[in-house]
Amino acid sequence: MAKIFITRRLPEEGLQLLKEHELEIYEGDAPPSKEEIIEGVKDKDALICLLTDKIDAEVMDSAPNLKIIANYAVGIDNIDVKEATKRGILVTNTPGVLTETVADLAWALLMAVARRIVEGDKFMREGKFKGWAPLLMLGSDIYGKTIGIIGAGRIGSAVARRAKGFNMRILYYSRKRNEKLEEECNAEYVDLETLLKEADFVSLHTPLTEETYHMIGEKELKMMKPTAYLINTGRGKCVDEEALVKALKEGWIRGAALDVFENEPAIHPELKKLDNVVLTPHIGSASYETRSKMAVMVAENVIAALEGKLPPNCVNPEAYGKK
Ligand code: GLV
Ligand code: GLV
Repeated sequence: MAKIFITRRLPEEGLQLLKEHELEIYEGDAPPSKEEIIEGVKDKDALICLLTDKIDAEVMDSAPNLKIIANYAVGIDNIDVKEATKRGILVTNTPGVLTETVADLAWALLMAVARRIVEGDKFMREGKFKGWAPLLMLGSDIYGKTIGIIGAGRIGSAVARRAKGFNMRILYYSRKRNEKLEEECNAEYVDLETLLKEADFVSLHTPLTEETYHMIGEKELKMMKPTAYLINTGRGKCVDEEALVKALKEGWIRGAALDVFENEPAIHPELKKLDNVVLTPHIGSASYETRSKMAVMVAENVIAALEGKLPPNCVNPEAYGKK
C-alpha cells in the first residue's frame, strides 16, 4: 500500500482505481497553498496535482519518497520538470483524452464571440429586445473565412478538422511542420506574421514555455486585421493581457474569446467591462466524459509508477530508474 496525496477531489472513476492505497485528498474549494502542498506530500510516494499547483524544487525536496508527480492536465507548465528529472521523479500528464473536448470549447468560443451570443443573451434578459431589426447585433461570418492556428499539436489539429466543416482556409504556425494536418485539412504552413495578417480568427494552442510566453503582444495584435478575433484556450501567459485590453478597446481587433488568463484566477479588470470579449473560467477539458477519463489516466500513471513501471504518459522518461 502506497501513500498518495491528491490536491483536490477528482471524479470517482479515478479514485476507485486507487482504492487499495492510502489516499489523502485536499478537500478545499480553492487550490491548496504551497505550505499545504508541502505538508500533504511530505511522507507520500505519489502526488496527483492540478495545473493550479506550483510544484517546484522546494516541494520535491520536502518529499523524499516521492516517485511520481501525476498532473491532472495536459499542460505541465506548473511543474519544474527539470528539477523532477534531477531527483528521479517521474512526471506525467493527460494527453489525448481531452483533445476533442478542448477543440469543441475553442469552437464554442469562436462562434460565441463572432455571433455575439453572450451579448445577445444579456440583451434578452435585460428586456432590450424590441423586435427584429436590420442592424441589430451584427457579427462576423465564420463559414468560408480564414482561421490561423498557432500550435499544431493534437488540439490545434482538432480545431483545424472542425474548421474544414466550415469550409475555411486554414493557416497554421507551429514549431514543427505537421504534414498530416496539411494533407488532412489542406492547411497551409506559414510564418507567424503571415498568419496574423491574413487570419480572421486566430486560435492559440501552444504549451506555455519560455518561447511562447507573451508570444501575442502589442506588435502581434497590431498585425492582426481590425476585423479579426483572438481565441485562447491554451495558456493565459502566452498573451500579454495588458496589450490585449488595449487592442480590444482601441479596435486593433474586433474581439476576443478567452478561457485562460495571464494571472488566473484574476482577470484584467478592464476585460470585464468590454462587450467584445467572451470569458470562460478555464473549462476547456470540463466535460463529464473527459474529466472522468482524465481521472482514470492519472490513476493509471500513478499505479504504473508505484509498480516500478514506466507510466504510459511520462513526459520525462529519462528520470525512469534513477530513483
Ligand atoms: C488544461 O488546461 C490542461 O492543460 O489540461
Ligand atoms: C495537447 O494535447 C496538444 O498537443 O495540443
